[in-house]
Amino acid sequence: MNRRRFLGQSLATAGAALLATRAEAANSPASSNQAASHPEVSDHALQGPFPGSVPDAAIAAAGFPDGFLWGLATAAFQIEGAWKEDGKGESIWDRFTHTVGKVKGSATADVACDSYHLYPQDIAILKQLHQKSCRFSISWPRIQPSGVGAPNPKGLDHYSRYVDALLEAGIRPFCTVYHWDLPQALEDRGGWPNRDLAGYFADYAGILAQHLGDRITVWAPFNMPWTVAYLGYGSGAFPPCRSNYTDFLRAAHTINLAQGESFRAIKAASSKATVGSAYGMSPAYPKTDSEADRAAAERYHAFNNVYFLETALYGRYPDAFVVPTPYELMGFRPGDEKIMKVPLDWLGFHYYTRRIVRDARVAEHSGSGGLATETLDTANGGDRWTQLVAVMPTEGPLTDGGLEVWPRGIYDLVTRISHDYHQPIIEITESGCSYLDTPYHGDNGRVPDARRIAFFRQELAELSRAIADGARVRAFHAWSLLDNFEWADGYSERYGLTYVDYRDEKRTVKDSGLWYGRVAEANRLDV
Ligand code: BGC
Ligand code: BGC
Repeated sequence: MNRRRFLGQSLATAGAALLATRAEAANSPASSNQAASHPEVSDHALQGPFPGSVPDAAIAAAGFPDGFLWGLATAAFQIEGAWKEDGKGESIWDRFTHTVGKVKGSATADVACDSYHLYPQDIAILKQLHQKSCRFSISWPRIQPSGVGAPNPKGLDHYSRYVDALLEAGIRPFCTVYHWDLPQALEDRGGWPNRDLAGYFADYAGILAQHLGDRITVWAPFNMPWTVAYLGYGSGAFPPCRSNYTDFLRAAHTINLAQGESFRAIKAASSKATVGSAYGMSPAYPKTDSEADRAAAERYHAFNNVYFLETALYGRYPDAFVVPTPYELMGFRPGDEKIMKVPLDWLGFHYYTRRIVRDARVAEHSGSGGLATETLDTANGGDRWTQLVAVMPTEGPLTDGGLEVWPRGIYDLVTRISHDYHQPIIEITESGCSYLDTPYHGDNGRVPDARRIAFFRQELAELSRAIADGARVRAFHAWSLLDNFEWADGYSERYGLTYVDYRDEKRTVKDSGLWYGRVAEANRLDV
Protein backbone atom coordinates (compact mmCIF):
# COMPACT_ATOMS: atom_id res chain seq x y z
CA MET A 1 0.00 0.00 0.00
CA ASN A 2 1.12 3.50 -0.69
CA ARG A 3 2.31 4.75 2.66
CA ARG A 4 1.06 8.28 2.28
CA ARG A 5 -2.38 7.03 1.42
CA PHE A 6 -2.26 4.60 4.28
CA LEU A 7 -1.42 7.40 6.63
CA GLY A 8 -4.04 9.67 5.27
CA GLN A 9 -6.62 6.98 5.86
CA SER A 10 -5.76 5.63 9.20
CA LEU A 11 -5.63 6.36 12.84
CA ALA A 12 -1.96 5.87 13.16
CA THR A 13 0.80 5.83 15.66
CA ALA A 14 4.36 6.11 16.67
CA GLY A 15 5.34 3.30 14.35
CA ALA A 16 3.25 4.56 11.50
CA ALA A 17 4.78 7.91 12.23
CA LEU A 18 8.11 6.41 11.40
CA LEU A 19 6.71 5.13 8.14
CA ALA A 20 5.32 8.54 7.27
CA THR A 21 8.50 10.35 7.89
CA ARG A 22 10.45 7.75 6.03
CA ALA A 23 8.14 8.22 3.10
CA GLU A 24 9.13 11.87 3.16
CA ALA A 25 12.76 10.91 3.37
CA ALA A 26 12.42 8.52 0.47
CA ASN A 27 11.57 11.49 -1.71
CA SER A 28 14.60 13.46 -0.70
CA PRO A 29 18.10 13.09 -2.06
CA ALA A 30 19.36 12.30 1.45
CA SER A 31 18.10 8.77 1.08
CA SER A 32 20.29 7.90 -1.85
CA ASN A 33 21.73 5.28 0.38
CA GLN A 34 24.61 4.27 -1.78
CA ALA A 35 26.49 7.54 -2.08
CA ALA A 36 29.62 7.29 0.01
CA SER A 37 29.76 10.27 2.30
CA HIS A 38 32.81 12.45 2.58
CA PRO A 39 34.12 13.29 5.99
CA GLU A 40 34.43 16.95 5.03
CA VAL A 41 30.71 17.10 4.42
CA SER A 42 29.65 14.85 7.21
CA ASP A 43 31.83 16.50 9.84
CA HIS A 44 29.98 19.76 9.48
CA ALA A 45 26.49 18.37 9.66
CA LEU A 46 24.72 19.13 12.92
CA GLN A 47 27.68 21.18 14.08
CA GLY A 48 27.01 24.48 15.70
CA PRO A 49 23.69 25.67 17.03
CA PHE A 50 20.50 24.41 15.39
CA PRO A 51 16.94 24.85 16.63
CA GLY A 52 16.69 22.91 19.87
CA SER A 53 20.43 22.22 20.19
CA VAL A 54 22.36 22.11 23.45
CA PRO A 55 25.34 24.48 23.91
CA ASP A 56 28.79 22.89 23.78
CA ALA A 57 29.55 24.03 27.31
CA ALA A 58 26.61 22.02 28.63
CA ILE A 59 27.79 18.95 26.74
CA ALA A 60 31.30 19.30 28.18
CA ALA A 61 29.90 19.67 31.69
CA ALA A 62 27.46 16.75 31.46
CA GLY A 63 28.06 14.05 34.06
CA PHE A 64 26.71 10.57 34.74
CA PRO A 65 26.49 8.63 37.99
CA ASP A 66 29.26 6.22 38.89
CA GLY A 67 28.48 2.79 37.54
CA PHE A 68 26.13 4.15 34.88
CA LEU A 69 25.34 1.30 32.48
CA TRP A 70 26.33 2.23 28.95
CA GLY A 71 24.79 -0.21 26.54
CA LEU A 72 23.76 -1.12 23.03
CA ALA A 73 20.57 -2.80 21.88
CA THR A 74 19.59 -5.30 19.19
CA ALA A 75 16.61 -7.51 18.37
CA ALA A 76 16.68 -11.16 17.28
CA PHE A 77 14.74 -10.86 14.03
CA GLN A 78 16.68 -7.81 12.90
CA ILE A 79 20.15 -9.37 13.19
CA GLU A 80 20.12 -13.14 13.51
CA GLY A 81 19.22 -14.56 10.11
CA ALA A 82 19.30 -18.40 10.20
CA TRP A 83 15.57 -18.20 9.77
CA LYS A 84 14.96 -21.93 9.58
CA GLU A 85 17.97 -23.36 11.28
CA ASP A 86 18.16 -25.69 14.28
CA GLY A 87 14.45 -26.36 14.40
CA LYS A 88 13.27 -22.75 14.43
CA GLY A 89 9.61 -22.26 13.51
CA GLU A 90 8.23 -19.62 11.16
CA SER A 91 7.38 -16.23 12.64
CA ILE A 92 4.86 -13.67 11.42
CA TRP A 93 7.81 -11.56 10.28
CA ASP A 94 9.21 -14.45 8.22
CA ARG A 95 5.80 -14.77 6.59
CA PHE A 96 5.58 -11.00 5.99
CA THR A 97 9.07 -10.67 4.50
CA HIS A 98 8.42 -13.66 2.25
CA THR A 99 5.28 -12.00 0.88
CA VAL A 100 6.02 -10.02 -2.25
CA GLY A 101 5.45 -6.30 -1.96
CA LYS A 102 5.61 -5.96 1.79
CA VAL A 103 9.19 -4.86 2.45
CA LYS A 104 11.16 -2.11 0.77
CA GLY A 105 13.50 -3.57 -1.83
CA SER A 106 11.89 -7.01 -1.33
CA ALA A 107 14.37 -7.52 1.47
CA THR A 108 14.09 -10.47 3.82
CA ALA A 109 15.81 -11.15 7.13
CA ASP A 110 16.70 -14.73 6.16
CA VAL A 111 20.36 -13.84 6.64
CA ALA A 112 20.31 -10.26 7.99
CA CYS A 113 23.57 -9.72 9.93
CA ASP A 114 23.99 -13.48 10.34
CA SER A 115 24.44 -12.87 14.05
CA TYR A 116 23.08 -16.33 14.82
CA HIS A 117 26.51 -17.51 13.66
CA LEU A 118 28.64 -14.39 14.00
CA TYR A 119 27.59 -13.33 17.51
CA PRO A 120 31.10 -13.84 18.91
CA GLN A 121 32.21 -10.99 16.64
CA ASP A 122 29.33 -8.84 17.90
CA ILE A 123 30.19 -9.47 21.51
CA ALA A 124 33.84 -8.72 20.81
CA ILE A 125 32.74 -5.30 19.52
CA LEU A 126 30.68 -4.69 22.66
CA LYS A 127 33.71 -5.50 24.74
CA GLN A 128 36.03 -3.36 22.64
CA LEU A 129 33.61 -0.46 23.16
CA HIS A 130 33.59 -0.87 26.97
CA GLN A 131 29.89 -1.69 27.04
CA LYS A 132 28.32 -2.66 30.34
CA SER A 133 24.89 -3.78 29.11
CA CYS A 134 23.56 -5.52 26.03
CA ARG A 135 19.84 -5.47 25.40
CA PHE A 136 18.97 -8.34 23.04
CA SER A 137 15.81 -10.29 22.32
CA ILE A 138 15.03 -13.97 22.10
CA SER A 139 13.20 -15.43 19.14
CA TRP A 140 10.08 -17.19 20.44
CA PRO A 141 9.91 -19.57 17.42
CA ARG A 142 13.47 -20.75 18.12
CA ILE A 143 12.36 -21.78 21.62
CA GLN A 144 8.86 -23.05 20.78
CA PRO A 145 8.57 -23.49 17.01
CA SER A 146 4.76 -23.60 17.16
CA GLY A 147 4.46 -21.24 20.12
CA VAL A 148 3.39 -23.92 22.60
CA GLY A 149 4.77 -27.10 24.09
CA ALA A 150 8.18 -28.44 24.96
CA PRO A 151 11.14 -26.16 24.27
CA ASN A 152 13.55 -26.81 21.42
CA PRO A 153 16.90 -27.62 23.09
CA LYS A 154 18.91 -26.19 20.20
CA GLY A 155 17.19 -22.85 20.56
CA LEU A 156 17.80 -22.74 24.29
CA ASP A 157 21.43 -23.79 23.81
CA HIS A 158 22.03 -20.95 21.39
CA TYR A 159 20.89 -18.29 23.84
CA SER A 160 22.63 -20.02 26.70
CA ARG A 161 25.94 -19.75 24.83
CA TYR A 162 25.13 -16.17 23.92
CA VAL A 163 24.48 -15.17 27.53
CA ASP A 164 27.63 -16.96 28.70
CA ALA A 165 29.68 -15.07 26.12
CA LEU A 166 28.23 -11.74 27.29
CA LEU A 167 28.96 -12.50 30.92
CA GLU A 168 32.45 -13.59 30.07
CA ALA A 169 32.99 -10.22 28.40
CA GLY A 170 31.79 -8.48 31.56
CA ILE A 171 28.51 -7.37 29.98
CA ARG A 172 25.10 -7.50 31.66
CA PRO A 173 22.59 -9.45 29.57
CA PHE A 174 19.25 -7.60 29.31
CA CYS A 175 16.66 -9.92 27.79
CA THR A 176 13.66 -8.71 25.82
CA VAL A 177 11.31 -11.68 25.73
CA TYR A 178 9.34 -10.52 22.68
CA HIS A 179 10.55 -8.15 19.98
CA TRP A 180 7.75 -8.74 17.45
CA ASP A 181 8.49 -12.19 16.01
CA LEU A 182 5.34 -14.09 17.02
CA PRO A 183 5.30 -17.77 15.98
CA GLN A 184 3.11 -17.91 12.87
CA ALA A 185 1.33 -20.92 14.39
CA LEU A 186 -0.02 -18.64 17.13
CA GLU A 187 -1.22 -16.09 14.62
CA ASP A 188 -3.01 -19.01 12.96
CA ARG A 189 -4.75 -19.56 16.31
CA GLY A 190 -6.03 -15.99 16.27
CA GLY A 191 -2.95 -13.99 17.18
CA TRP A 192 -2.85 -11.45 20.01
CA PRO A 193 -6.61 -10.76 19.95
CA ASN A 194 -6.95 -14.36 21.21
CA ARG A 195 -6.76 -14.15 24.98
CA ASP A 196 -5.19 -17.59 25.23
CA LEU A 197 -1.94 -16.05 24.04
CA ALA A 198 -1.47 -14.49 27.47
CA GLY A 199 -1.09 -17.94 28.94
CA TYR A 200 1.11 -19.22 26.09
CA PHE A 201 3.35 -16.20 26.44
CA ALA A 202 3.69 -16.72 30.17
CA ASP A 203 4.68 -20.35 29.53
CA TYR A 204 7.33 -19.21 27.06
CA ALA A 205 8.68 -16.55 29.43
CA GLY A 206 8.75 -19.12 32.23
CA ILE A 207 10.78 -21.52 30.08
CA LEU A 208 13.33 -18.78 29.42
CA ALA A 209 13.60 -17.86 33.09
CA GLN A 210 13.91 -21.51 34.06
CA HIS A 211 16.81 -22.11 31.68
CA LEU A 212 18.54 -18.74 31.66
CA GLY A 213 17.36 -17.12 34.88
CA ASP A 214 20.44 -18.24 36.76
CA ARG A 215 22.39 -15.78 34.60
CA ILE A 216 19.92 -13.20 33.27
CA THR A 217 18.59 -10.87 35.95
CA VAL A 218 17.02 -8.15 33.81
CA TRP A 219 13.90 -8.94 31.77
CA ALA A 220 11.47 -6.91 29.69
CA PRO A 221 8.47 -8.90 28.42
CA PHE A 222 7.57 -6.76 25.39
CA ASN A 223 9.33 -4.37 23.07
CA MET A 224 6.90 -1.56 22.22
CA PRO A 225 3.65 -3.40 22.98
CA TRP A 226 1.58 -0.52 21.61
CA THR A 227 3.24 -0.93 18.22
CA VAL A 228 2.69 -4.68 18.25
CA ALA A 229 -1.02 -4.20 18.90
CA TYR A 230 -1.66 -1.13 16.80
CA LEU A 231 0.50 -1.67 13.75
CA GLY A 232 -0.24 -5.38 13.72
CA TYR A 233 -4.01 -5.29 14.25
CA GLY A 234 -5.19 -1.66 14.09
CA SER A 235 -3.51 -0.07 11.09
CA GLY A 236 -2.22 -3.25 9.50
CA ALA A 237 1.13 -1.75 8.50
CA PHE A 238 3.05 -4.57 10.20
CA PRO A 239 2.28 -8.28 10.29
CA PRO A 240 -0.17 -9.88 10.68
CA CYS A 241 -1.55 -6.86 8.75
CA ARG A 242 -5.03 -6.74 10.15
CA SER A 243 -6.84 -3.45 10.39
CA ASN A 244 -9.73 -3.72 12.74
CA TYR A 245 -10.10 -1.46 15.75
CA THR A 246 -11.69 -4.16 17.90
CA ASP A 247 -8.84 -6.55 17.11
CA PHE A 248 -6.44 -3.82 18.18
CA LEU A 249 -8.26 -3.29 21.49
CA ARG A 250 -8.36 -7.01 22.15
CA ALA A 251 -4.73 -7.54 21.16
CA ALA A 252 -3.66 -4.75 23.51
CA HIS A 253 -5.69 -6.28 26.33
CA THR A 254 -4.19 -9.74 25.80
CA ILE A 255 -0.73 -8.18 25.85
CA ASN A 256 -1.54 -6.43 29.11
CA LEU A 257 -2.65 -9.76 30.59
CA ALA A 258 0.48 -11.40 29.14
CA GLN A 259 2.66 -8.74 30.71
CA GLY A 260 1.22 -9.52 34.15
CA GLU A 261 1.25 -13.30 33.68
CA SER A 262 4.82 -13.34 32.37
CA PHE A 263 6.00 -11.12 35.22
CA ARG A 264 4.80 -13.79 37.65
CA ALA A 265 6.10 -16.70 35.55
CA ILE A 266 9.59 -15.19 35.33
CA LYS A 267 9.70 -14.42 39.05
CA ALA A 268 8.44 -17.93 39.90
CA ALA A 269 11.24 -19.52 37.86
CA SER A 270 14.09 -17.24 38.89
CA SER A 271 14.59 -15.67 42.28
CA LYS A 272 17.16 -13.26 40.82
CA ALA A 273 14.84 -11.87 38.16
CA THR A 274 13.93 -8.21 37.94
CA VAL A 275 11.21 -7.38 35.42
CA GLY A 276 10.61 -4.03 33.78
CA SER A 277 9.59 -2.82 30.34
CA ALA A 278 10.72 -1.56 26.94
CA TYR A 279 7.96 0.81 25.88
CA GLY A 280 8.15 3.18 22.93
CA MET A 281 7.43 6.75 23.99
CA SER A 282 7.31 10.18 22.35
CA PRO A 283 6.82 13.26 24.48
CA ALA A 284 3.69 15.05 23.30
CA TYR A 285 3.34 18.83 23.31
CA PRO A 286 0.01 20.57 22.74
CA LYS A 287 -0.16 22.56 19.53
CA THR A 288 -1.74 25.53 21.30
CA ASP A 289 -2.35 26.37 24.91
CA SER A 290 -6.07 25.73 24.55
CA GLU A 291 -7.66 23.33 26.97
CA ALA A 292 -8.74 21.15 24.04
CA ASP A 293 -5.20 20.77 22.67
CA ARG A 294 -3.71 20.19 26.10
CA ALA A 295 -6.26 17.45 26.72
CA ALA A 296 -5.49 15.94 23.30
CA ALA A 297 -1.77 15.81 24.15
CA GLU A 298 -2.67 14.05 27.40
CA ARG A 299 -4.73 11.50 25.47
CA TYR A 300 -1.76 10.91 23.20
CA HIS A 301 0.43 10.30 26.24
CA ALA A 302 -2.12 7.92 27.76
CA PHE A 303 -2.68 6.07 24.50
CA ASN A 304 0.79 5.91 22.94
CA ASN A 305 3.11 6.15 25.92
CA VAL A 306 1.61 4.69 29.10
CA TYR A 307 -1.24 2.44 27.95
CA PHE A 308 0.76 -0.63 29.06
CA LEU A 309 2.59 1.01 31.92
CA GLU A 310 -0.41 2.20 33.90
CA THR A 311 -2.23 -1.09 33.44
CA ALA A 312 0.76 -2.79 35.06
CA LEU A 313 1.19 -0.28 37.85
CA TYR A 314 -2.46 0.35 38.67
CA GLY A 315 -4.38 -2.54 37.15
CA ARG A 316 -6.55 -0.15 35.12
CA TYR A 317 -6.38 1.60 31.77
CA PRO A 318 -5.43 5.27 31.58
CA ASP A 319 -8.03 7.61 30.05
CA ALA A 320 -6.96 7.48 26.43
CA PHE A 321 -10.28 7.93 24.68
CA VAL A 322 -12.90 10.66 24.46
CA VAL A 323 -15.44 7.95 25.22
CA PRO A 324 -15.32 5.78 28.34
CA THR A 325 -12.75 2.97 28.14
CA PRO A 326 -14.42 0.30 25.95
CA TYR A 327 -13.96 -2.62 28.36
CA GLU A 328 -16.49 -4.80 26.62
CA LEU A 329 -14.90 -4.52 23.20
CA MET A 330 -11.52 -5.28 24.74
CA GLY A 331 -12.84 -8.53 26.12
CA PHE A 332 -12.13 -7.40 29.67
CA ARG A 333 -13.32 -9.88 32.31
CA PRO A 334 -13.84 -9.33 36.01
CA GLY A 335 -10.56 -10.05 37.76
CA ASP A 336 -8.40 -8.92 34.83
CA GLU A 337 -7.36 -5.88 36.82
CA LYS A 338 -5.60 -8.25 39.22
CA ILE A 339 -3.94 -10.21 36.39
CA MET A 340 -2.57 -7.04 34.78
CA LYS A 341 -1.29 -5.41 37.93
CA VAL A 342 2.36 -6.10 38.74
CA PRO A 343 4.97 -4.06 40.59
CA LEU A 344 7.52 -3.52 37.80
CA ASP A 345 11.01 -3.43 39.31
CA TRP A 346 12.18 -0.61 37.03
CA LEU A 347 10.78 1.24 34.01
CA GLY A 348 12.36 1.02 30.57
CA PHE A 349 11.40 3.08 27.55
CA HIS A 350 12.75 4.29 24.22
CA TYR A 351 13.04 7.84 22.94
CA TYR A 352 13.45 8.73 19.27
CA THR A 353 11.47 11.90 18.56
CA ARG A 354 8.59 14.11 19.70
CA ARG A 355 5.01 14.94 18.67
CA ILE A 356 2.89 18.06 18.48
CA VAL A 357 -0.73 17.20 19.20
CA ARG A 358 -4.03 18.97 18.71
CA ASP A 359 -7.69 18.16 19.19
CA ALA A 360 -9.08 16.82 15.93
CA ARG A 361 -12.47 18.38 16.61
CA VAL A 362 -11.18 21.93 16.51
CA ALA A 363 -10.98 23.22 12.96
CA GLU A 364 -7.44 24.09 11.97
CA HIS A 365 -6.56 27.06 9.81
CA SER A 366 -2.83 27.32 9.99
CA GLY A 367 -1.56 24.22 8.20
CA SER A 368 -0.20 21.13 9.89
CA GLY A 369 3.12 22.66 10.90
CA GLY A 370 4.95 19.38 10.47
CA LEU A 371 4.84 15.91 9.00
CA ALA A 372 1.60 14.04 9.41
CA THR A 373 1.88 11.09 11.73
CA GLU A 374 -1.09 10.07 13.81
CA THR A 375 -3.52 11.29 11.20
CA LEU A 376 -7.10 10.70 12.14
CA ASP A 377 -9.82 10.38 9.63
CA THR A 378 -13.37 10.81 10.81
CA ALA A 379 -14.57 8.86 7.80
CA ASN A 380 -12.99 5.61 8.93
CA GLY A 381 -14.34 5.78 12.45
CA GLY A 382 -10.99 5.83 14.22
CA ASP A 383 -11.41 9.43 15.10
CA ARG A 384 -14.20 8.89 17.55
CA TRP A 385 -11.90 7.11 19.96
CA THR A 386 -9.03 9.50 20.58
CA GLN A 387 -9.91 12.61 18.54
CA LEU A 388 -6.32 13.69 18.25
CA VAL A 389 -4.01 14.72 15.46
CA ALA A 390 -0.30 14.31 16.09
CA VAL A 391 2.47 15.55 13.84
CA MET A 392 6.21 15.32 13.96
CA PRO A 393 7.52 18.87 13.70
CA THR A 394 10.44 19.77 11.46
CA GLU A 395 11.90 22.59 13.50
CA GLY A 396 15.03 20.61 14.35
CA PRO A 397 17.18 18.92 11.68
CA LEU A 398 15.94 15.63 10.25
CA THR A 399 17.86 12.37 10.26
CA ASP A 400 18.27 10.43 7.01
CA GLY A 401 15.31 8.39 8.28
CA GLY A 402 13.28 11.62 8.35
CA LEU A 403 12.87 11.92 12.12
CA GLU A 404 13.30 15.29 13.79
CA VAL A 405 16.33 15.60 16.07
CA TRP A 406 15.00 17.14 19.30
CA PRO A 407 17.41 16.54 22.21
CA ARG A 408 15.17 18.18 24.80
CA GLY A 409 12.54 15.49 24.25
CA ILE A 410 14.41 12.98 26.35
CA TYR A 411 14.68 15.46 29.23
CA ASP A 412 10.95 16.14 29.16
CA LEU A 413 10.03 12.48 28.87
CA VAL A 414 12.35 11.24 31.60
CA THR A 415 11.41 13.99 34.04
CA ARG A 416 7.70 13.41 33.44
CA ILE A 417 7.89 9.63 33.91
CA SER A 418 10.09 10.15 36.93
CA HIS A 419 7.64 12.59 38.47
CA ASP A 420 4.42 10.76 37.61
CA TYR A 421 5.52 7.39 38.97
CA HIS A 422 7.42 8.52 42.08
CA GLN A 423 10.98 8.35 40.87
CA PRO A 424 11.26 4.79 39.66
CA ILE A 425 14.55 3.34 38.48
CA ILE A 426 14.66 4.09 34.75
CA GLU A 427 16.50 2.41 31.89
CA ILE A 428 16.56 3.99 28.46
CA THR A 429 16.04 0.86 26.40
CA GLU A 430 16.64 2.44 22.97
CA SER A 431 17.50 5.68 21.30
CA GLY A 432 19.22 6.33 18.03
CA CYS A 433 19.14 7.72 14.53
CA SER A 434 19.35 6.49 10.98
CA TYR A 435 22.17 8.06 8.96
CA LEU A 436 23.38 6.44 5.79
CA ASP A 437 27.11 7.12 6.02
CA THR A 438 29.16 4.41 4.36
CA PRO A 439 32.85 3.47 4.61
CA TYR A 440 35.15 6.18 3.31
CA HIS A 441 37.63 4.52 1.05
CA GLY A 442 40.12 7.34 1.40
CA ASP A 443 40.76 6.55 5.04
CA ASN A 444 41.10 2.85 5.69
CA GLY A 445 37.41 2.26 5.30
CA ARG A 446 36.48 4.32 8.34
CA VAL A 447 32.83 5.38 8.61
CA PRO A 448 32.75 9.10 9.42
CA ASP A 449 29.20 9.40 10.78
CA ALA A 450 29.70 12.71 12.55
CA ARG A 451 25.97 13.45 12.56
CA ARG A 452 25.30 10.40 14.73
CA ILE A 453 27.97 11.54 17.20
CA ALA A 454 26.35 14.98 17.31
CA PHE A 455 22.93 13.39 17.83
CA PHE A 456 24.10 11.37 20.84
CA ARG A 457 26.19 14.18 22.34
CA GLN A 458 23.18 16.46 22.31
CA GLU A 459 20.71 13.93 23.55
CA LEU A 460 22.92 12.50 26.27
CA ALA A 461 23.59 16.00 27.60
CA GLU A 462 19.83 16.36 28.04
CA LEU A 463 19.65 12.96 29.72
CA SER A 464 22.42 14.02 32.08
CA ARG A 465 20.41 17.13 32.94
CA ALA A 466 17.38 14.99 33.81
CA ILE A 467 19.58 12.88 36.08
CA ALA A 468 20.98 16.01 37.72
CA ASP A 469 17.38 17.09 38.34
CA GLY A 470 16.70 13.88 40.24
CA ALA A 471 15.65 11.18 37.74
CA ARG A 472 17.09 7.81 38.71
CA VAL A 473 18.30 6.72 35.29
CA ARG A 474 20.74 3.85 35.56
CA ALA A 475 21.23 2.74 31.93
CA PHE A 476 21.22 3.98 28.36
CA HIS A 477 21.10 1.65 25.36
CA ALA A 478 21.92 3.14 22.00
CA TRP A 479 20.06 1.65 19.07
CA SER A 480 21.81 -0.18 17.59
CA LEU A 481 24.97 -2.25 17.91
CA LEU A 482 24.75 -3.07 14.20
CA ASP A 483 23.10 -1.78 11.06
CA ASN A 484 20.28 -4.28 10.67
CA PHE A 485 16.97 -5.28 9.12
CA GLU A 486 14.76 -2.26 9.70
CA TRP A 487 11.36 -4.00 9.49
CA ALA A 488 9.22 -2.86 6.53
CA ASP A 489 12.07 -0.56 5.48
CA GLY A 490 14.37 -3.51 4.91
CA TYR A 491 18.02 -2.50 4.67
CA SER A 492 17.30 1.05 3.52
CA GLU A 493 17.93 2.50 6.98
CA ARG A 494 21.13 2.30 9.00
CA TYR A 495 20.78 2.76 12.75
CA GLY A 496 24.00 0.98 13.67
CA LEU A 497 27.03 2.28 15.51
CA THR A 498 28.70 -0.50 13.56
CA TYR A 499 28.47 -0.61 9.78
CA VAL A 500 27.46 -3.93 8.22
CA ASP A 501 28.36 -4.72 4.63
CA TYR A 502 25.56 -7.14 3.72
CA ARG A 503 27.58 -8.61 0.86
CA ASP A 504 30.09 -10.28 3.16
CA GLU A 505 28.73 -9.47 6.65
CA LYS A 506 31.87 -7.52 7.46
CA ARG A 507 31.43 -5.30 10.51
CA THR A 508 33.19 -1.92 10.73
CA VAL A 509 32.77 0.11 13.89
CA LYS A 510 31.69 3.59 12.80
CA ASP A 511 33.27 6.76 14.20
CA SER A 512 30.16 7.04 16.40
CA GLY A 513 30.83 3.57 17.83
CA LEU A 514 34.42 4.48 18.63
CA TRP A 515 33.23 7.71 20.24
CA TYR A 516 30.53 5.89 22.22
CA GLY A 517 33.17 3.43 23.45
CA ARG A 518 35.23 6.34 24.79
CA VAL A 519 32.12 7.77 26.45
CA ALA A 520 31.45 4.44 28.14
CA GLU A 521 35.03 4.25 29.34
CA ALA A 522 35.22 7.84 30.61
CA ASN A 523 31.58 8.24 31.75
CA ARG A 524 31.37 11.69 30.17
CA LEU A 525 30.67 13.17 26.73
CA ASP A 526 33.61 15.39 25.82
CA VAL A 527 35.88 12.57 24.73
C1 BGC B 1 -7.13 -17.59 29.35
C2 BGC B 1 -5.75 -18.01 29.80
C3 BGC B 1 -5.03 -16.77 30.29
C4 BGC B 1 -5.82 -16.08 31.38
C5 BGC B 1 -5.18 -14.81 31.82
C6 BGC B 1 -7.82 -16.90 30.50
O1 BGC B 1 -9.07 -16.51 30.12
O2 BGC B 1 -7.85 -18.71 28.95
O3 BGC B 1 -5.06 -18.55 28.72
O4 BGC B 1 -3.77 -17.11 30.79
O5 BGC B 1 -7.10 -15.75 30.88
O6 BGC B 1 -4.73 -14.09 30.79
C1 BGC C 1 12.34 -0.60 17.50
C2 BGC C 1 13.49 -1.16 16.70
C3 BGC C 1 13.67 -0.33 15.45
C4 BGC C 1 13.96 1.10 15.85
C5 BGC C 1 14.24 2.03 14.71
C6 BGC C 1 12.52 0.89 17.67
O1 BGC C 1 11.41 1.47 18.16
O2 BGC C 1 12.27 -1.25 18.75
O3 BGC C 1 13.22 -2.50 16.41
O4 BGC C 1 14.69 -0.83 14.65
O5 BGC C 1 12.82 1.57 16.52
O6 BGC C 1 13.11 2.24 13.93
